[in-house]
Amino acid sequence: MKDKILKRLREQAPARVSGEVLSRALKVSRTAVWKYINELRSEGYVIGSSSRTGYKLIASPDRLSRPELEEGLDTSVLGRRFYILDSVDSTNAYAKKLADDGVAEGAVVLAEQMTAGRGRLGRDWSAVKGGGIWLSVILRPDILPGEVQVVTLAAAAAVAEALETAAGIRAGIKWPNDIILDGSKLCGILTELISEADRVNYLVLGIGINISQKRDEFPPEVRDKAISLKMYAEKNGLSLDKFNRNVIIRELLLSLEKLYIGLKKGDTSRIIDLWNKYSATLGKNVRISWKGGDYTGVAQELTPEGNLVVMCTDGVRREAVSGEVSIRGMLGYV
Ligand code: BTN
Repeated sequence: MKDKILKRLREQAPARVSGEVLSRALKVSRTAVWKYINELRSEGYVIGSSSRTGYKLIASPDRLSRPELEEGLDTSVLGRRFYILDSVDSTNAYAKKLADDGVAEGAVVLAEQMTAGRGRLGRDWSAVKGGGIWLSVILRPDILPGEVQVVTLAAAAAVAEALETAAGIRAGIKWPNDIILDGSKLCGILTELISEADRVNYLVLGIGINISQKRDEFPPEVRDKAISLKMYAEKNGLSLDKFNRNVIIRELLLSLEKLYIGLKKGDTSRIIDLWNKYSATLGKNVRISWKGGDYTGVAQELTPEGNLVVMCTDGVRREAVSGEVSIRGMLGYV
């Protein structure tokens, strides 16, 4: 019932809704409406009230909220089921257990906090309470294990698009899947794959976006390379109002679903196009580790599989498949 009241208030905001209209529409007494309004207030919603004109939603708390996530989320696969947790070791680990138990693809695990967040290459990922978006989604694509790279590129492109749509922030993608803002890392993606030799059983796409941490909330080893939307906004005199995690997550799922549906039909062109749109890599001077050697050159394009083509200074075109690529001017490579 509380969710229904909240939905009505949100639909009408900034206008007011009278207690009587709410009580009639939802078939509960006006005293019950008043009780639910007070419950919402105790959860951090700021709701104005006047005995004559009714209730008005003024501000929502910065909490992960199912009704806010689901509002307008007209996807057919992603986010049909949410698991919203207060605290968990790692959303990826939790999602893997769900997937092992047969939970359908598209299920999304979210947590306010992770106590043992996982990063790429066995690193830790710091995930303080309420500080960011810590999200994992279960996917069961009918692709070969060697084709998974493109799913990760899709996730990066979807994050970049969602940040622009929901928060008005234009971030860039460092190949393959770091999201960069102002030369620092705003978001990381960890794809974990459970597969047989020629078949993907499922994959868990883990996405971590830094939203409101302060600089000293990052561990010392990443402090000079990480950024949150809040740090960026403060530096650039932007308002923080637009950084609603529920809205960003919703836009992310909407964007990712379009790309994923294309991929399921064997079409990766939309993924590559969107990735290119937000690329902070193509045309840049890069250093790649390739077959044991280090090479520098200019990043030229993505192959349809998502590999990075680099024209190296020795005149050889090389395709980077995995391993680290450094881009001049980003994350400490000068
Ligand atoms: C990286 O190292 O760049 C990847 C970081 C991935 C972090 C996300 S947060 C949600 C999901 N759950 C985890 O434990 N890790 C990923």
